[in-house]
Amino acid sequence: MLHPRLRDDATRMRMLLYGQLVSKTVCTAVQLGLPEALAGGPRSAEDLAREVEAHPLALRRLLRALVPFEVFTEEADGTFALTGLGTTLLPDTPGTARPSALLLAGEVGGAWGEFEHTVRTGESAFRLINDIALFEHLERRPERREVFDRSQEAGLRLELDEIFEAVTFDRYRRIVDVGGGNGHLMCELLLRTPGSTGIVVDLPGTVPLAEKRIVEGGLIDRCTTTAGDFFSSVTPGADLYILSHILHDWGDDSAVSILRTCAAAMPPHGRIMVIDLLTDAAADDHGGRHRLPALMDLYMLSLFGADGGRERTGGEFGALLADAGLEAEETLVLPSGMAVITARPIIG
Ligand SMILES: C[S@@+](CC[C@H](N)C(=O)[O-])C[C@H]1O[C@@H](n2cnc3c(N)ncnc32)[C@H](O)[C@@H]1O
Repeated sequence: MLHPRLRDDATRMRMLLYGQLVSKTVCTAVQLGLPEALAGGPRSAEDLAREVEAHPLALRRLLRALVPFEVFTEEADGTFALTGLGTTLLPDTPGTARPSALLLAGEVGGAWGEFEHTVRTGESAFRLINDIALFEHLERRPERREVFDRSQEAGLRLELDEIFEAVTFDRYRRIVDVGGGNGHLMCELLLRTPGSTGIVVDLPGTVPLAEKRIVEGGLIDRCTTTAGDFFSSVTPGADLYILSHILHDWGDDSAVSILRTCAAAMPPHGRIMVIDLLTDAAADDHGGRHRLPALMDLYMLSLFGADGGRERTGGEFGALLADAGLEAEETLVLPSGMAVITARPIIG
């Protein structure tokens, strides 16, 4: 007879293995447009199948599979409805997970198929499959770029409240968001900080998206954009250079190089603000949040390879700053495990 603990562990292990199927099923639900189709209330599988052009019996099985995972409920009359968790897949829910599902369903998630290659060789699985680095790929594929930016924006949306609660930006009059993507963070920042002006620096393919966002936000008088490469130069003379979710895309040498570019551009009173996950900050959390940095780290590994992006500890960020002639003036660890590290030049 099997020991009950062995039986439990063996079942738990299967759930870990089948986790990939859960992810795939949620992504498929998003690709089919099921959350939007259910936004108006419960519907039958047959009705849904007609609208989203799916096989009715296959679709019913998909819907039922996500009931125990609390994405949908099955009502007494056999119709299906969205749960609170399911509504996070709707495009207009603040912090929506929809763009992340679309990224996972596409070539970004596809890189996981070659993860063994990455672990054996240290090479980027994304590059192996697509023969191009992620950001170059996004520069060439505007429709993928838009999904990527929406995913970043939705992720930031979950962090903004705690960032603005913890950090006062009023003391910075001129702010550069380095690798600022579609300008989401900068626009939210300027709306809360009326005395400041901003510049969003990013790759040429992204800048038009940031310009659109700035116009929509009514910030055209206070915010500009610059297409540029943060390894060469960024706009000089600002009080603050923000690096939000930038350094985790790069290996140590590249990360130091980005920090040096910013340090060279800023005046002596200037500051650099790094916003990134801290792997050690979340490690004490027993609610499961410490799993996120670990998974994000592997996500970076699959995209950028062993010499590329990674999640870091506070000590590792400190070492990068020191290599760039900087030191942390303040490190705020936010409830989610995100850190806001404000750095200044080392004097003398
Ligand atoms: C992970 S996203 C972070 C976006 C945004 N800062 C945020 O917090 O969501 C990384 C950003 O770096 C930009 N980027 C990548 N390489 C760059 C380069 N060489 N010069 C400037 N921006 C670059 C990308 O286009 C992308 O917008």
